[in-house]
Amino acid sequence: MERRGIRLIYSSLTGNTEKVARAIAEVLGIEPLNVRGASPQRFEKVQLLFVGDGVYALLPSKAMVRFLRALPPLRGTKAALFGTYGSLPTQFRLIRRILGEKGAETIGEFACPGQDKATLGLLRRGRPDEEDLAAARAFAREMARKAGYALPESSS
Ligand SMILES: Cc1cc2nc3c(=O)[nH]c(=O)nc-3n(C[C@H](O)[C@H](O)[C@H](O)COP(=O)(O)O)c2cc1C
Repeated sequence: MERRGIRLIYSSLTGNTEKVARAIAEVLGIEPLNVRGASPQRFEKVQLLFVGDGVYALLPSKAMVRFLRALPPLRGTKAALFGTYGSLPTQFRLIRRILGEKGAETIGEFACPGQDKATLGLLRRGRPDEEDLAAARAFAREMARKAGYALPESSS
């Protein structure tokens, strides 16, 4: 079957997950795609799909849920989930379930705290920080290795 390499899709209401998305995409040598304006049909036959989101009242963003439900069948696609959270990364459960219904296999998850902009930025201040982003880059390399995808040399 023809396969189309790696894609990264993210949703980020206050910018925290976007920082992680950019760090991961840089390692992979691809452009991060914001869920707003992305076309689900362009995700057919992707080999490795990174999906990133924050958590809002225990769930992923509505925009991400809508996008994932609109994806074509993903048999043979491996999925790597990442995100940020205030207290617990509970967004992954529904994301994993929808991807599973599409036929994708989730092979790993990465989460780190994100600064809470809703409480004047007092909680989780400065997160994700450099250490979080370094861990996100290591996760990206690990997922690529697990999916049998060769990364550009500059990122290893
Ligand atoms: C409206 C709202 C609801 C949230 N609900 C939760 C929650 O249920 N659990 C949690 O751990 N964090 C929660 N958070 C914290 C965010 O998940 C956290 O700040 C995350 O980094 C946001 O990601 P983003 O900047 O990519 O949008 C909430 C934040 C907002 C603004």
